Amino acid sequence: MARILITSALPYINGIKHLGNLAGSMLPADVYARFQRARGHEVLYICATDEHGTPADLAAAEAGQDVLSYCEEQHRLQHDVGRRYGLSWDWFGRSSSPQNRRLTQHFADLLEDNGFIEERTDRMVYSIDDKRFLPDRYIEGICPVCGFERARGDQCDNCGSLLDPVDLKAPYSKISGSRNLEVRETRHLYLLQTRLQDRIRAWVDAKPEFSSLARSIALKHLDEGLIDRGITRDLAWGVPVLSHGQVRPGFESKVFYVWFDAPIEYIGATEEWADATGADWRRWWREDAGAADVRYVEFMGKDNVAFHTVSFPATLLGSAEPWKSVDVLKAFNWLNWYGGKFSTSEQRGVFMDTALELLPADYWRWYLTANAPEHSDSAFTWEQFQSSANRDLADVLGNFVNRILKFCETRFEGVVPEGGLPGPLEEKLAAEVAARLADLTAQMETIEVRKAAQALRALWVLGNEYLQEAAPWSAIKTDPERAAVVVRTAVNLAALFARTSAPVLPFTAETLAAALGESYPGPWPGLDVAAELAKVPAGRRIRTPPVLFRKVEDADVEAWSARFGGAAS
Ligand code: MF3
Ligand code: ZN
Repeated sequence: MARILITSALPYINGIKHLGNLAGSMLPADVYARFQRARGHEVLYICATDEHGTPADLAAAEAGQDVLSYCEEQHRLQHDVGRRYGLSWDWFGRSSSPQNRRLTQHFADLLEDNGFIEERTDRMVYSIDDKRFLPDRYIEGICPVCGFERARGDQCDNCGSLLDPVDLKAPYSKISGSRNLEVRETRHLYLLQTRLQDRIRAWVDAKPEFSSLARSIALKHLDEGLIDRGITRDLAWGVPVLSHGQVRPGFESKVFYVWFDAPIEYIGATEEWADATGADWRRWWREDAGAADVRYVEFMGKDNVAFHTVSFPATLLGSAEPWKSVDVLKAFNWLNWYGGKFSTSEQRGVFMDTALELLPADYWRWYLTANAPEHSDSAFTWEQFQSSANRDLADVLGNFVNRILKFCETRFEGVVPEGGLPGPLEEKLAAEVAARLADLTAQMETIEVRKAAQALRALWVLGNEYLQEAAPWSAIKTDPERAAVVVRTAVNLAALFARTSAPVLPFTAETLAAALGESYPGPWPGLDVAAELAKVPAGRRIRTPPVLFRKVEDADVEAWSARFGGAAS
């Protein structure tokens, strides 16, 4: 049994996330966590809200709330909606926790002691009317790279360039709209990544299991040459800048940069979990407390990769303490909304909470897994969503389950029939199931999300093919023993589908397992498929669950396109 630590990129606190956020980090992490638990491994899946920095501050101001109560409420909402999607976090923490504050200050002290932090004088945009500096998203203007009109100080949402606020053209304050700005000097802490460059490269080179997307992004940054990065900001909301427990002179109204403390919250949230449950967080994170045996897998969108392959490793390596670092970094591309982008700030696309008003979570989980933006961007369209729901869930899995359980109910009074011996068709089925199952298991192990979904669907297809060939509705007229074998085998196949579908479709799997009198979540099936197909014993009374998946009608697609826009938007 292995110990597997799983994290998904921490969602910003500023509102419920859209389906793109779900598809590129939290959902695949959850599928993987559920799979590895079913395999019998000890899994810890950690996530949290990313609460500091300008996104939180601005969103709170827009909502007319103080930032503390805003974060508390939004944390609760995101936690709740995550649960409704079946995201099986062992802990969903908050980067504003006391645990994370202490850890962040601890890392800063170590980095400074080891010579990797330096105080420097910076030139920053100051708003005379607002009487404050305007870091990151507090300032907007024209992108110096692409000319986009509403580029933010830290990043242009149009071309993706990382920006420095002083480079924006025609800048204005996001708070007041004022253009009465000037550049002023201010002191900040810099993390000297240039001094860690060689060690970071060696660290990346020693990580053979990074996805190719993750590796290429990391190497691009290293090849371009790392730069020293400012890790403090002129802001009130964040982790206070202490130095060995004392307020650092000159830093009274400054905090650490959100991207400094956010990844540390992976550890912080684990500590929150341990404090709440009495568990030991060190055996997950400290190599001197057993964490060297942990396999650590991170999930994130591609825009987060640099922070996880350069900045966060710089923090960990520079600390010179034996911290566990990531073994497998799985990065995702974008899920687009038709041709364009999902956008939280512009409320374009479908959001996690509203999606659940349309259909239950498993429809979204299936669609977003089967169409994951994995090796390239993918585009959400209602037509594709409809076809995936109908042609995979309703016609294949749902249809098979419904046919066989109904038949068992009407012809065998809902009791798994006894008698008869498996024949050549059952042997063929077992061989095919073994092959598909091996494929599915391998794709899950290597986190090939789309291929895993295809392999799962291929397994479901065997159910309908078997029923078609074995035709229990004919057999029952001439050879009831034969019909009994087929029904018993097919019921067992449905039970195997419940176990293998559970990582992707946990709600459906639970319903199905309950109908079959099976435990949930069951263990992942082993290699002896004949034994796996004989687990539900003859004589057991089973139920037919309500139809597992309804069809998505053309009228739904029309109504949803009208409500949410689509091609037109
Ligand atoms: N909040 C960031 C985003 O959504 C991700 C932070 S990941 C962390 O892009 F590790 F830094 F927390
Ligand atoms: Zn731009």
